[in-house]
Amino acid sequence: MATINDNYLKLKAGYLFPEIARRVNTFAEANPDAQIIKLGIGDVTEPLPEACRTAMVKAVEDMGDRATFKGYGPEQGYLWLREKIAAHDYQARGCQVDASEIFISDGSKCDTGNILDIFGKNNTIAVTDPVYPVYVDTNVMAGHTGPANEAGEYAGLTYLPMTADNDFTTELPNQKVDLIYLCFPNNPTGATATKGELKKWVDYARENGSIILFDAAYEAFITDPTLPHSIYEIDGARDCAIEFRSFSKNAGFTGTRCALTVVPKTLTAKAADGSDVDLHKLWSRRQSTKFNGVSYIIQRGAEAVYSEAGQAQIKGLINFYLENAKIIRDKLTAAGIKVYGGVNAPYVWVKTPKGMSSWEFFDQLLQTVHVVGTPGSGFGAAGEGYFRISAFNSRENVEEAMKRITEKYKL
Ligand code: MLT
Repeated sequence: MATINDNYLKLKAGYLFPEIARRVNTFAEANPDAQIIKLGIGDVTEPLPEACRTAMVKAVEDMGDRATFKGYGPEQGYLWLREKIAAHDYQARGCQVDASEIFISDGSKCDTGNILDIFGKNNTIAVTDPVYPVYVDTNVMAGHTGPANEAGEYAGLTYLPMTADNDFTTELPNQKVDLIYLCFPNNPTGATATKGELKKWVDYARENGSIILFDAAYEAFITDPTLPHSIYEIDGARDCAIEFRSFSKNAGFTGTRCALTVVPKTLTAKAADGSDVDLHKLWSRRQSTKFNGVSYIIQRGAEAVYSEAGQAQIKGLINFYLENAKIIRDKLTAAGIKVYGGVNAPYVWVKTPKGMSSWEFFDQLLQTVHVVGTPGSGFGAAGEGYFRISAFNSRENVEEAMKRITEKYKL
């Protein structure tokens, strides 16, 4: 008799976003006239930049000509894309990242989950709380945790609370942890980390032989020039950190799919016999076995992000969403609702009014003003009493949603 991976039975309910979609669909079926505005999942709404579309169309034409046709591409991604990323996103910022250390993929969500393939079963793991649920759920699936308690905290994980009480910063754990997930600008709180804060983590990781899994998917939304865009802006990070980045949020590739992971060649972890093993080689082995790369057409589209026109166009997109975030912040603040984030990030982290729980606020907003957000408790126990509003939507929808919410909740 076939058996299952019992770890899946430990997972709490559905994955957060499908669970929200399920509730929204149930409501929409029962209320077909309701004009629902979705500011829940961080999915972009604005069209792909013209530079990317033009490059993709050209790439389609390349596929129609035997001379330029492409079959399987390199599993690690085409060198012309990796070189642009290395030069523009890293070397221009003083980070020593070489094109050979970059792996193109179809998403940071996939990579942050898949990376666990190359790590041992007995690593101790730290996540912030609240946290992007993928980091937690993939560790549960891999059998790295015990069961969850009522608040949704899994036994065996070290949670690092990030709340208004500590100004949404992360504090070093008291005990030693082997793998540390950090995401800045943060999903879901929209908080950022200074160079000093990241240095604290890099120093900790180097002292303890830990690896930092740094999710920089939202780095393009940083407006404060003093804030680091990459963990590799911190000395020593090449010896202790893997970085994940994405074209989803800066260039609108959520449906198109293209991302990247940096595994420095200087990064090692221990084998069971105590020897140091090169993680770059392991990830390369993993990817070349389980992944066939991102399509040529999409990689050409991603490459166009680095053209002069592409840079100007993505800047326009980012500013557009940041302006949405500002509208959300300003309107809610004026209505007496406490908000955080949304300045260097596309997410606004809202303290639920009147002491409501996160899901109570979610249900009430959905049912009364037909606006969808994401309950903070879905991101972890410390997210209870908070609610995430995504700035990824049209201006019209953001303005209308804020009008509806502030009319109802004006304090
Ligand atoms: C989110 O809403 O948190 C993001 O869209 C999730 C993701 O990028 O996978």
